[in-house]
Amino acid sequence: MRKRLLSGMRPTGPLHLGNYHGALANWVRLQQEYDCFFFIADWHALTSDYEKPDRIRGYTYDILLDWLSVGLSPEQSTLFIQSQVKEHAELYLILSMITPVPWLERNPTYKDQIEQLSSKDLSTFGFLGYPVLQAADIIMYKPFGVPVGVDQAPHVEITREIARRFNHLYGPVFPEPEVILTDTPKLLGTDRRKMSKSYGNAIFLSDPAEEVAAKVATMITDPQRMRKSDPGNPEICNVFDFHKLYSPPQFVAEVDRRCRSAEIGCVECKRRMAEGLNAFLAPIRETRRHYQERPDRVEEIIAAGRAKAQQTARRTMDEVRAAIKL
Ligand code: TRP
Ligand code: SF4
Repeated sequence: MRKRLLSGMRPTGPLHLGNYHGALANWVRLQQEYDCFFFIADWHALTSDYEKPDRIRGYTYDILLDWLSVGLSPEQSTLFIQSQVKEHAELYLILSMITPVPWLERNPTYKDQIEQLSSKDLSTFGFLGYPVLQAADIIMYKPFGVPVGVDQAPHVEITREIARRFNHLYGPVFPEPEVILTDTPKLLGTDRRKMSKSYGNAIFLSDPAEEVAAKVATMITDPQRMRKSDPGNPEICNVFDFHKLYSPPQFVAEVDRRCRSAEIGCVECKRRMAEGLNAFLAPIRETRRHYQERPDRVEEIIAAGRAKAQQTARRTMDEVRAAIKL
């Protein structure tokens, strides 16, 4: 029996290179070794976007295509949509009965997000309860581990606490899942801030080649280098970090040398990097096209994922109802 892993993403927009290197690349590797459940947390998107929910469904589909394009496999993994497995809502309700409100108010992500998303009114019950829903998502499948970025670690910790409390009150039903931290290579957006859709600095997995080249052309390089005749410093250049990911090693070494000696200009350097990046994205685009031309197949994958997830979720809920004698 392969050990089980579970993770999810909120559908807040199409996925970009930061999401790829921060999560997806790791998931694609993990699915070879583990029994993986990956789901799109559309109810979680509603906690912050309840005033404007109209994009959530489209983004859910986009992300599923992104997943398939990068090689998440519906044969190896269970890919599903949270709101299609209603058991999550039932477990969320039951867990909400036993979760002390101070655990939620203490959650660092909660305070952070309320400050950061100050344009939205997040003083709702649902937003406070975000980690309870996430705990339900996770323990429903009794995974051994949850592969996430460090920002999600507090949520997995609350999940462990909620699982422990449930077991303490009603008997042992849920194993406490481990957090499996994904370390992220340094990959900034085109403006050198963290790559994020909301900053407008992201390169999306679904961007066409010309758009990728255009975005790369706007990237900020070594800020000290004004003219081509000035020697550059690749160590502080974001374009160079991209080269390290997408260009062949001997070309990376060449850029390193020719940048420092002012033999290569940033325009040419970026053009070459965009070629490497587009070569990396080409098979991803190809797979996306394959699925875009077969919407019936995508619907089939969604339905099969739902059925597989539901099978486990129903079994868990039978145990939960028995444990609480309902
Ligand atoms: N909170 C996660 C995020 O914003 C999404 C998520 C919801 C999740 N439920 C989950 C991640 C369960 C891992 C496990 O990225
Ligand atoms: Fe950066 Fe390349 Fe310009 Fe050097 S030549 S500063 S590595 S973009």
